[in-house]
Formats: sequence, C-alpha cells, structure tokens
Amino acid sequence: MHKLTQKEVFKGLNLENIDFYLLDTVDSTNTFAKKKSLHKDYLVVISEEQTAGRGRQGKEWYSPNSGNIYMTIKFKDKNNAPLSLIIGLLISEAMDSVSGQKLNAGLKWPNDLLIDNKKICGILIESEVNKDDVEYIVGIGINYSLPKKESWWGEISELADILPRAKLINRILKGVITYSENGYMDWKSAWEKRCVHIGTELKVISNNQQDEETGIFNGINEEGKMILQTSNGLKSISSGECSIKGVY
Ligand code: BTN
Repeated sequence: MHKLTQKEVFKGLNLENIDFYLLDTVDSTNTFAKKKSLHKDYLVVISEEQTAGRGRQGKEWYSPNSGNIYMTIKFKDKNNAPLSLIIGLLISEAMDSVSGQKLNAGLKWPNDLLIDNKKICGILIESEVNKDDVEYIVGIGINYSLPKKESWWGEISELADILPRAKLINRILKGVITYSENGYMDWKSAWEKRCVHIGTELKVISNNQQDEETGIFNGINEEGKMILQTSNGLKSISSGECSIKGVY
C-alpha cells in the first residue's frame, strides 16, 4: 500500500497557514486535534490507522490500516451555513472533481456519503469555544478497503485508480479552505441535488432512540434542519439518526 506523503497531500496548498501531522497510528485524529492549539488558520491531522476511531452518537469507527482516509481539519468557521452538511457536499464534489466523472456520491442527512446504497464516508464534527472563537474539529473517514465489514458499510477500492487517496485528500482540503474563506452561495440546492432521499418516506429516531417519527423528507432549511412532512404537518428536525426505508 502506498503511504501518504506530505508532497502529495499538500500539493498547491499554502503551508504557512496550515499546521499538519501525518501519522502512522493514533487513537483518533479528532481526539489528537482537540489536544492541539490552533496556531495557524488550519490544523490537519491524518493517520494511516486509528486505534480508537470515533463515530457519531458515541459509536466506534472501525479504522484499520488498510488504505483508508482518517483525517481531521480544525479551523474557525466564520460562515453561517451548517458545516456538517457543507462538508459532506464538499467531499461528494471532490470525488467528482478528482475522478473527472460524475460519481455522484449520495448524501444522507445529515452527513453520510453513500455509493450503491452503502455508506463509504462518515463525518464527525465537534466544536470547542476558545476565548470568543468557536473552533471546529471536522473528522472525515472514507473507506477504501475494510478487512471485515457490516452489510451497510461500503468501500471504494474499485475506484482507487481514478480516485487516488492523496489526491482526494488534497482536493477535500482545498474545498474546505475555499469554503472557509469564501463561503458557499447556493449550498442548500447543491446539497439537495446530491441527497439520495428527497421525497422518500423516512423514519427519524431521536432522543437516544426514544422518539420515532415517520414522514416524507421535504429537503432542508437554511439551518440545515430536515423538513419532514408528517401526518401532523411539516416539522423541522435538527438532530437524530434517520433511518431510510430501502437504503442500508
Ligand atoms: C460517523 O459515525 O459516521 C462519523 C465517523 C467519523 C470518522 C472519522 S475518521 C477521522 C476522524 N477521527 C475519528 O475518531 N472520527 C473521525
């Protein structure tokens, strides 16, 4: 397996603005980034493996050393778009741009990426308040190859030739930096275009698996909340695990 190099990963990026760590192993790139202070505009942590990778809602993120992407970007976001949705959108766009093809990795609210109805990427966004600033810790896991897997986990090893890992990381970093500096004007419609479950009946489970709501997914609002058409009218829902009939 080809190991990631600084030259490939940061090609064309201004390293005066970026502190970075390219590691062989770490507990979690998010945990590592949280412990480091932000001295430059961006802090990037990438590891070949994680021994305690973390997913959303306290779940584990299986992180073997098998050529996957485990990356965290820490920065201050001055835009007021919902970062968790923006990052998924930027990754889906980066995949198209690097491959030169319309791979159209689908977005599942709030921020999973799917190919062939299987989850190939997960995003964990944490934040910390430092003095008056909010620092975001954006963790991205993209699976190229998994020695063992659950039925709903996908991998993109077949795309590795057109989607080399280092190039994809480089393009994602460029996308996040461009977004951080310039914002993303029409993010909402771009996100909805790539969403796999617009108009689909969803079951939304929230409040620690306590509450369940069924309705038609009618898109998102400016805050990134999902708009659900339920039998009791439209509801906007800000968090929760949404399980979708027919998708993993
Ligand atoms: C999810 O549950 O879907 C989110 C998974 C996020 C995994 C990534 S891998 C890099 C970063 N470090 C972590 O410990 N988690 C995130």
